[in-house]
Amino acid sequence: MAKTRKIAVIVGSLRKESYSRKLAKAIATVAPANLQFDFVDIGQLQHFNQDLEATPTAEWTAFRDQVRGADAVLFVTPEYNRGLPGVLKNAIDVGSRPYGHSVWNGKPAAVVSNSPGAIGGFGAYHQLRQSLVFLNMPTVNQPETYVGGVAQMFDESGELINEASREFLAGFAQTFADGIEKHVA
Ligand code: FNR
Repeated sequence: MAKTRKIAVIVGSLRKESYSRKLAKAIATVAPANLQFDFVDIGQLQHFNQDLEATPTAEWTAFRDQVRGADAVLFVTPEYNRGLPGVLKNAIDVGSRPYGHSVWNGKPAAVVSNSPGAIGGFGAYHQLRQSLVFLNMPTVNQPETYVGGVAQMFDESGELINEASREFLAGFAQTFADGIEKHVA
């Protein structure tokens, strides 16, 4: 049986009814059973300030510990103004410091962007991936996961309506799981 792998899920929206969060939950339901998804909150993180590196806040430390304890990271994010939501970039920055102690280093990752619109958050996806390259996170390339029309994907209880979406997300999650095995000892 495949070994359990802990996935830190980071959602780039703080909105209660966030489609990104619904999408992340949907991915967790169709993923291989050995992937254990733990949602990591980022809304409570103070703005990154390099002056606080020697005296990190309790929230920063808890966040860093949560990510450090995961085998891999799944980012699910909306696009804000053709880029990354600030709250997600802040979380990336908090996790990346102090210099030489980044919690992201070497962790397998996957990015899923989404939007009610047709372009599916393409800009946010690639802006995030630019940082993941620098942070040395081997990331799923294919399938590309820009999910458009996300507002039409769920029923009232947050279940996926469409079989094609379910299949696509299940295939993506399997690819992520396979990639994790290549990078995690
Ligand atoms: C948006 N939205 C948006 N959508 C998009 O496809 N491209 C964009 O550049 C933007 N820009 C943008 C900026 C700001 C400040 C907001 C608040 C919204 C719309 C966005 O996709 C929509 O509100 C989603 O529902 C946000 O994701 P969650 O919160 O549902 O996960």
